[in-house]
Amino acid sequence: MIQCENVYKSFGDRTVLSGIHFSISKGKIFGLLGPSGAGKTTLIKILTGQLSFEKGKASVLNNSVQNLTDEEKKNIGIMMDQFGVYDRLSCTDNLKIFADIYSVAHNVIQSTLEMVGLKNAMNMKAMDLSKGMRTRLQLARAFLHSPSIIFLDEPTAGLDPLTMKSIHKMILDKKESGCTIFLTTHNMEEAAALCDTVALLNEGVIVEIGSPKEMCRKYNHHKTIKLHLISGEDMELMHGKESADEIYQLLKSECIETIHSSEPNLETVFLELTGRKLQGDV
Ligand SMILES: Nc1ncnc2c1ncn2[C@@H]1O[C@H](COP(=O)(O)OP(=O)(O)OP(=O)(O)O)[C@@H](O)[C@H]1O
Ligand SMILES: [Mg+2]
Repeated sequence: MIQCENVYKSFGDRTVLSGIHFSISKGKIFGLLGPSGAGKTTLIKILTGQLSFEKGKASVLNNSVQNLTDEEKKNIGIMMDQFGVYDRLSCTDNLKIFADIYSVAHNVIQSTLEMVGLKNAMNMKAMDLSKGMRTRLQLARAFLHSPSIIFLDEPTAGLDPLTMKSIHKMILDKKESGCTIFLTTHNMEEAAALCDTVALLNEGVIVEIGSPKEMCRKYNHHKTIKLHLISGEDMELMHGKESADEIYQLLKSECIETIHSSEPNLETVFLELTGRKLQGDV
């Protein structure tokens, strides 16, 4: 559904995307994970035909992004910062504009606002919405015309955990209904929870790509088992037969409160590959 082959993008003499390469098949969630300035939004703009690029191939729905037909464009939903929300209009009127552009019947507006949890805010002006409600409105706009591909640029940035969870559910429901989803985030937990495939982007280069679980297993160099004892003591043992006797004795004497094997998370993998943290140094 979405393909990039060796895509390069520069602004002036500054290269911000270098040799981007991946493909996404139907019904999958692909996450582009990278710190601020990595090039995530730039890539979304390229894939949605908003920005040109110098080298390589980018296609969506089997057609080059530079030549998408109106019909194909109508099959794409986009949610990005500052994209398509008119502050002075109500939620309903905001969506009416897009319903008319996409030839969607107006009765779909109500059901879409309900789907994103804005049923009681239909008549509120966009400028009066909270950040979470505004994000929901942007999602409604991306979902309104039932596109088969949806691009979401940091769909949960700055939201509280509950709102984040409900947005995750909406994204997973869309996947369930057959949509292909491309999202960007610098939240590694979000990427691990939602994505079939993640690409780690650093300074315009994909440094690793794969399923989040496999990626964490691949970088699990220091295989250990972590134990928390009832006495309060923490222990870390090698994940091998050399630890079997000790663990057996601890289990037998009922000393263990919790036990789990250690695996790096995406944050640790990113740090190992780039020497940088995903979410800055704070
Ligand atoms: N129109 C532009 N002109 C010049 N430079 C740009 C332009 N758009 C983006 N850039 C630069 O390209 C780089 C990548 O920007 P981009 O917005 O794609 O990053 P990002 O990964 O989306 O970051 P964030 O997480 O902060 O949204 C940045 O260094 C940015 O300054
Ligand atoms: Mg961005």
